[in-house]
Amino acid sequence: MSNFLTGIKSTGRPHLGNVIGVIYPTIFLTKTEKFKKKFILIANLHSLTNLKYIKNNKNNAYKILAVWLACGIDYKKFLFYRQSDLPEVTELFWFFSIIYPYNRLKLVHSFKENVKKKKTINTGILTYPILMAADILISKAELVLVGKDQLQHLEIARKIAKKINNIKKIFPLPQAIVLENLIPGTDGTKMSKTKNNMIDLFASKKEIKKQIMKIKTQKQFSSNKKELLKDNLYNIYISLAGKEKTEKIKNNFKMGYEHAKAELYRFIIKKFKRERNLYKYYIKRKNKLETIFKKGAQKMKQIVNYTISEVRKAFECN
Ligand code: TRP
Repeated sequence: MSNFLTGIKSTGRPHLGNVIGVIYPTIFLTKTEKFKKKFILIANLHSLTNLKYIKNNKNNAYKILAVWLACGIDYKKFLFYRQSDLPEVTELFWFFSIIYPYNRLKLVHSFKENVKKKKTINTGILTYPILMAADILISKAELVLVGKDQLQHLEIARKIAKKINNIKKIFPLPQAIVLENLIPGTDGTKMSKTKNNMIDLFASKKEIKKQIMKIKTQKQFSSNKKELLKDNLYNIYISLAGKEKTEKIKNNFKMGYEHAKAELYRFIIKKFKRERNLYKYYIKRKNKLETIFKKGAQKMKQIVNYTISEVRKAFECN
């Protein structure tokens, strides 16, 4: 049996892509497979590499937790924690950062993307994958559920684990569970907050409608297989409704894209009614959310203490 881990960066409310790509697969996987320990982390230090997230950082972590709860995670069966509650993670980050060559970090896709887009690049953007390696290895996670865009980061975690193991054997080598882009964004590329192409399940109905109306479509609907693959609205619809609904959905499209969009909106509101209500319930109860974090950190303490003491010993820092 292996340890399972997944994480979401707290840069605001999780959108439909996070729910379909991380939250539901985690619930499904952990119900159908047996794991030794199951970790879920809220990466509220990673979010800070973009300084605009300093403000609202606390609230953003609550939002992620509220969405996990609204989607039905049984948090008591998990080790659920907020990254900043465990300073051992950042201590491990230091040991890892002296192990890993700086030149290689400059070659990471996500770093290069940032260099293209931003005027000032802080050191945290460069060392982002090192902190992620600390998240993964502190809990000795063996299976890590991540999006395709995180694979390179996971590879770095494996390299670091190997290098440390050469000094002293401490870490298992983590492996990725990768999900393809399960649901595209409104412009057809990966759904993401920064690209503003998301469907925000927990926003007001009006807001959701606006986001759906924005979905880019082809000029004309075609039920030809090849054309369907390129049809973004169709892909979003199918990934939510399931392949068995194909015929019904195609009929919606025959009446035009506007009609199909209105149907998709109604479908989403109906499908996620329970989750939307539960989200509203949890997000009002900040004390409860804070207690879940505090308890999660308590449960993690013993695990992270053990790992960090092994690493301190390996570096003669104990
Ligand atoms: N970097 C991940 C993302 O942006 C979030 C993350 C941080 C994470 N630490 C992690 C994911 C550890 C899995 C394991 O999606």
